[in-house]
Amino acid sequence: MQQRRQIINNRNILIFTIIMIVGWGLMRASINKEQVAKRKSGYPVMELILQRWSSRAMSGELLTNSELMTIFEAARWAPSSYNNQPWRFIYAIKNSPEWNSIFNLLVPFNKLWAKNAAALVVIISANKFTHNNEPSPTHSFDTGAAWANMALQGTSMGLVMHAIEGFDYQKAREELKIPDGFTIEAMLAIGKPARKEVLPLELQEKEVRSGRRPITELIAEGSFEDKLAQ
Ligand SMILES: Cc1cc2nc3c(=O)[nH]c(=O)nc-3n(C[C@H](O)[C@H](O)[C@H](O)COP(=O)(O)O)c2cc1C
Repeated sequence: MQQRRQIINNRNILIFTIIMIVGWGLMRASINKEQVAKRKSGYPVMELILQRWSSRAMSGELLTNSELMTIFEAARWAPSSYNNQPWRFIYAIKNSPEWNSIFNLLVPFNKLWAKNAAALVVIISANKFTHNNEPSPTHSFDTGAAWANMALQGTSMGLVMHAIEGFDYQKAREELKIPDGFTIEAMLAIGKPARKEVLPLELQEKEVRSGRRPITELIAEGSFEDKLAQ
C-alpha cells in the first residue's frame, strides 16, 4: 500500500514537472513568435536582420555571465579602421552595486522600461588610433559596427537589445570617470524578453516593429541626388 502511494506520488511529481517544462517552453515560444512577426524586406536579407528590433518589454531576469560575455565577444569581432578596435564598454548588472550609477543616467521615459533590463551598457569609443595617436575619423563608425554585432548576436540568443540615446551624456562622463579622448556614443539595455503587458499602457502601444524608408531614397549611383536629402 505504502509502496503504491509512493509510486503515485512520484508519478504526480513527474507529470507536474513535465507540465511546467512544456508550459515554460510554450510561453517562451510564444514570446519568440511575437518577436519574429514578419517584417518584409524589398530584397532578400538574412532572417536575423529582420528579427532584430527594439522591444522594451523585458522580464527583469538576469543573464548568465557567459551570455553577457558572448554579447561583448560579438562586439570584439567587428571590423574597424586599422583594426584599431576603438569600442569600450562600461556595464552594470541589475541589482549590483554599480547598477544605480548607470541606471540613474537615463531620462525618465527610458527608466520606465529599462528598469527591467538585465544589464545596462555605456558604449564609448577612443577618438585616436592606438598605433600613432592620430585622430581616427571612423571611431564612431567602427563602434556602430560593434553595436550592430552585439544587437544581432543578442537577437540570435532571443534577447532584447535596445540602444539608448536618452540619457545624460555629461553626467555619464563625470559619474563614470570617462576621460577626454573618449566619445560617449550610446547606451544599451540588454534583457530577457517578456510579454508587452509588463509595460505601462503607453509603452505597450509602442511595441510594434517599425518599417523603413524605401531603398530608392537611400542610394544614388555616381553622385549625390536630391532624393538623398529627403
Ligand atoms: C543609437 C540609438 C539610440 C536610441 N535611443 C533610444 C532611446 O533613448 N529610447 C528608446 O526608447 N529607443 C531608442 N532607440 C531605439 C530606436 O527608436 C529604434 O531603433 C528605431 O525606432 C528603429 O526601430 P527598431 O530598432 O525596432 O528597428 C535608439 C536606437 C539607436 C540605434
